[in-house]
Amino acid sequence: MLIQPDELSVRQMYSYLVGMITPRPIAWVSTISAAGVTNLAPFSFFNGVSAKLAALCFSAVNNRDGSPKDTIRNIESVGEFVVNVVPAALAAAMNQTSFEYPPDESEIDAVGIEIQPSQLVRPPRVKASPIQIECQLLQIVRVGEGAAAGNLVVGKILLAHVADMVLNPNGEIDPALVDTIGRMGASDYCWTRERFAMPRPGSA
Ligand SMILES: Cc1cc2nc3c(=O)[nH]c(=O)nc-3n(C[C@H](O)[C@H](O)[C@H](O)COP(=O)(O)O)c2cc1C
Repeated sequence: MLIQPDELSVRQMYSYLVGMITPRPIAWVSTISAAGVTNLAPFSFFNGVSAKLAALCFSAVNNRDGSPKDTIRNIESVGEFVVNVVPAALAAAMNQTSFEYPPDESEIDAVGIEIQPSQLVRPPRVKASPIQIECQLLQIVRVGEGAAAGNLVVGKILLAHVADMVLNPNGEIDPALVDTIGRMGASDYCWTRERFAMPRPGSA
């Protein structure tokens, strides 16, 4: 089969895209509007960008009417966000926050998520998330126009909070303790409970 984007509807292309790129990590992004309304939503177009300066990125595609999602609007106006990592125990709560609430309604209140203040940025952190990454906006790269067009947010990592309980005795983050979930195609997710190690060629 050949997938030629120009011959497909937006819906078909999105469905192939999320089936082709798997598994995807999930950024559970908390933001705040200029008026002070908090927002929390998951994004699986998410990854690291660089280590110096330390940066990450995620992409929120526009709504069906071509307008940007609340997360993008908030980041544009406030310039800050927090990426909260999603362990299996928070899967259902994370999913509930993907419901499209109006801009003046906070997913955090609607779903009943416990939050705590961040140290360096205005948006709060998800208390139960074992890794919370405070970020400052560096750039939003617009990709395409209208419905489902991308807004790639690149953020500088200012400060990451890592719960002691996910560290091994050497102070490294232990994936078995974080228990992250990943996003697959359709409505599927994966666990990260089975892993294997494979040293890179030339490494000791
Ligand atoms: C696991 C998961 C991953 C998602 N990933 C993305 C994504 O990468 N980009 C995107 O635009 N929407 C994604 N969504 C949908 C958004 O979370 C959803 O549109 C949300 O309502 C946006 O919230 P906001 O309008 O408050 O910003 C995802 C939903 C789920 C459940």
